[in-house]
Amino acid sequence: MSAAHQDLIDPFGRQIKDLRISVTDRCNFRCTYCMPEEGMQWLPRSEVMSFEEIEHLSRLFVERYGVRGIRLTGGEPTVRAHLPVLIEKLARLESADGPIDLAMTTNGATMRLIAPTLRDAGLRRVNISLDTLVREKFVRMTRRDELDNVLDGIAAAQKAGFDPVKINAVIERGVNDDEIVDLATFGRERQVEVRFIEFMPLDADGHWLSEQVVGQDEIVETINAVYPIEQMPARGAAPADRFRYLDGAGKIGVIPTVTKPFCGDCDRVRLTAEGEFRTCLFATKEFDLLSALRAGENDDQIAARIEAAVATKWAGHRINQVNFIRPGKSMSQIGG
Ligand code: 5AD
Ligand code: SF4
Repeated sequence: MSAAHQDLIDPFGRQIKDLRISVTDRCNFRCTYCMPEEGMQWLPRSEVMSFEEIEHLSRLFVERYGVRGIRLTGGEPTVRAHLPVLIEKLARLESADGPIDLAMTTNGATMRLIAPTLRDAGLRRVNISLDTLVREKFVRMTRRDELDNVLDGIAAAQKAGFDPVKINAVIERGVNDDEIVDLATFGRERQVEVRFIEFMPLDADGHWLSEQVVGQDEIVETINAVYPIEQMPARGAAPADRFRYLDGAGKIGVIPTVTKPFCGDCDRVRLTAEGEFRTCLFATKEFDLLSALRAGENDDQIAARIEAAVATKWAGHRINQVNFIRPGKSMSQIGG
């Protein structure tokens, strides 16, 4: 176990404890709220962080700054070759507070095939995307006919012992807002926690309109009318507000990025697949840690870059303000 760590604290007093790492910008889906149908420009292989580079930077965050959680994202993380090898490396990292909480966000398309391998490699938790239970709508939203595979993947993840398995459902007005209760029912029956996510302006097509956002209050009222729920105590730094069913059938989460921003409690930072450090999903500035690493900078020099970047973490995003500027990258290029 390493020595006591140094706190990484931003100018608003928030301590950074969570690192999201995109392991690839590629994906086997083309969700409309994220990617265009065609024409996405992939990063050249040589510009993507190697496993050794990801491990090196992760170790710095965990051992020096006491980062407690690492979440692997993409693109779709499971399309990265030999992903279990990376998971094994990261699962071994320990801060002064003990081993890290290693999680992954995935579209679940191949989970039915790889769940036990990922679990054995040391992954602890998975969030699987599922926006609709209707096959045609699934095809429309993801542009892939993979609903059955994803459903099998959710079951396989539970069977492999991931705990909890959470479901991510992005709700879009006029697209799947008629399925809020059905998705809640699915969660109750399968004993998974469904997290309803407000649609964010991070789609590559740039079609996002605030009218398409279904807000937390509406989601909660819709579910509460059928299955009474009550809000659970403070969420801390996690993005989801959590609610429990009064009949004891489990919990749901709502991620109210647009209507009730939770930036004040944010403890997250991100690394893109090409090793750019971002202090917010919506940041317009990035800090190139991979080039610094490849140029031979030592950990103290890279740490100075991390600290300088964290010093620019802003108080909150400006989605609801007239001067909101979309980041130059879309969701799959940043990492969810
Ligand atoms: N708004 C909200 N959530 C999104 N995701 C992707 N694009 C968007 C968007 N524009 C979600 C995916 C997945 C996670 C990585 O981010 O559904 O759950
Ligand atoms: Fe792929 Fe996830 Fe984007 Fe869908 S939301 S296209 S699964 S990266």
